[in-house]
Amino acid sequence: MSVEPRPIDMILAKRAGHAHSAAELEAFIAGYVNGAVPDYQVAAWLMAVCWRGMTDAETAALTLAMARSGDILDLGDLPNTVDKHSTGGVGDKTTIVLAPLLAAMGGTVAKMSGRGLGHTGGTVDKLESIPGFRAGLGDEEFRRVAREVGVVVTGQSKDLAPADGLLYALRDTTGTVESLPLIASSVMSKKLAGGAQSIVLDVKVGSGAFMKTLHDARTLAAAMVAIGTLAGRNVRAILSGMAQPLGRMVGNALEVEEAVACLRGEGPEDLLELCLVLAEEVLAAAGLPVSRAALLDTVASGRAFERFERWIAAQGGDVTSLDKLARAPDTFALRARRAGVVSRLDALAVGRAAGVLGGGRSKKGEAIDAGVGIELHAKVGDPVAAGEALATLWHRSGRGLEAATALLTDAYEVGESAAPEPLVFERGIGG
Ligand code: URA
Repeated sequence: MSVEPRPIDMILAKRAGHAHSAAELEAFIAGYVNGAVPDYQVAAWLMAVCWRGMTDAETAALTLAMARSGDILDLGDLPNTVDKHSTGGVGDKTTIVLAPLLAAMGGTVAKMSGRGLGHTGGTVDKLESIPGFRAGLGDEEFRRVAREVGVVVTGQSKDLAPADGLLYALRDTTGTVESLPLIASSVMSKKLAGGAQSIVLDVKVGSGAFMKTLHDARTLAAAMVAIGTLAGRNVRAILSGMAQPLGRMVGNALEVEEAVACLRGEGPEDLLELCLVLAEEVLAAAGLPVSRAALLDTVASGRAFERFERWIAAQGGDVTSLDKLARAPDTFALRARRAGVVSRLDALAVGRAAGVLGGGRSKKGEAIDAGVGIELHAKVGDPVAAGEALATLWHRSGRGLEAATALLTDAYEVGESAAPEPLVFERGIGG
C-alpha cells in the first residue's frame, strides 16, 4: 500500500486483518482531522479495528499520530507536572478530588479530560454541571491557570490532540469504544499532548469497565505504560475494580456534589481511598515525598478543598453554587423486594440507567441532562430490609424512567451474603 492510502483501502486492509504502517496511520489521521476523510469511513475503519485489533507497533504509531494532530505542550516551565487518567467507569469522579489534592501537595495538574463515553461518565460533562465552568481552554489560558492555581482541566480542543476529540465522539455513538488499541491510543495521545512528566493510569476492570477481565486490564495497562515510557514520561498504572460503581452517586451534578463532599472529608470511603492510592502512585512516580498521613492532613485541613474552589473559579465556575447544583426535579425510589444483603450491583447496568435518564448521549454532540442520575443507598455488602429504598432515581418528567428502573432492578441482587471485590487489584505497575 502507498504511503497515502485511500480511506477505503485502510478499511479493507484492516477488515482483512492487515497491519498499517506508521506513515499510513499518520496520513489517515491527518486526513480525518483536516476534513478530507469523512466520519462514515472512519467509523467503518474503527469497527474493523474493534474486530481485528492492532499490533503494539500500530497502537504506538496511532497514539503518536493522534498526539501530533495538534500541539504537544511543553510544560517544562511548571514544577512537578503530574497527571492521572482513568480508562472509564461508572460513578468515577476521582479527577475532581485528586487534581486539587495533588496541587495542594506540590504538584501541578494540567490535564486534558474527556466527556462521557459509552455507558461511562466523563469529567468534562461533570464539571460543566457547575454554572459558568468553561472546559474549552486554549493553550495560553491552560498554561496561565496551571501556573497560577496548580490545577487546570481542559476538554478536547482544536489545539490538543484534536484527533482524539473527533474519534472519541465518533466512537461513543458507533459502538466502537471497547477496543484495547483504541482506548490505549485515546488515553495516551491526550496524556502525551498534555505534557505532564509523571502520569498515573487507573485501569478499570469489571462489568462497568471497558476491560471486563483482569487479564485484559493488565494488557491495556502494560500497553499504555510502554507507550508513555517510550515517550520519556514517568508512568505508573493501577488496576481498580469497577464491578459496582465507585461511590454512591452516578450522574453529572450528583457526582460533583459527592466529590465536593469527599474533599470536605465527608467520604465516601471507596472514593477517598482510590484517590489516596492514585496520589501515592503519581507523587512517587514524580519523585515527590508522599505519605498517607500527609495526604489525609491535606484533606482534613481544608487545603485540598480550598485549592478546588480556586481551580473552579479560575475556569469561570460559580463556587457559591456548589451546595445547590441543579438536580432534576422528580424522584423515584427503587425498593428491595426482599430482606438480605446486596450481593451484586452491576456497574454497567447502573451506567446505562443513568444514560437513558438523559445523562448520556446516543448521538454525536447531543446535549445531556446534568441533573439526572442515581443515588445508590445500598451497595454490595450492605444489609437491606424488604421495602427499603435501594436507590433513588433523579429524573425529568419520567424521561427514560421505565427503562432506567428496569435496568436498575436487574442491576441489584439481594441474597444471603456478599463477597465484595477489592477496590484496588494491583498497583505500582511500571514503577
Ligand atoms: N478514556 C479515554 O480517554 N479514552 C477511551 O477510549 C476510554 C477511556
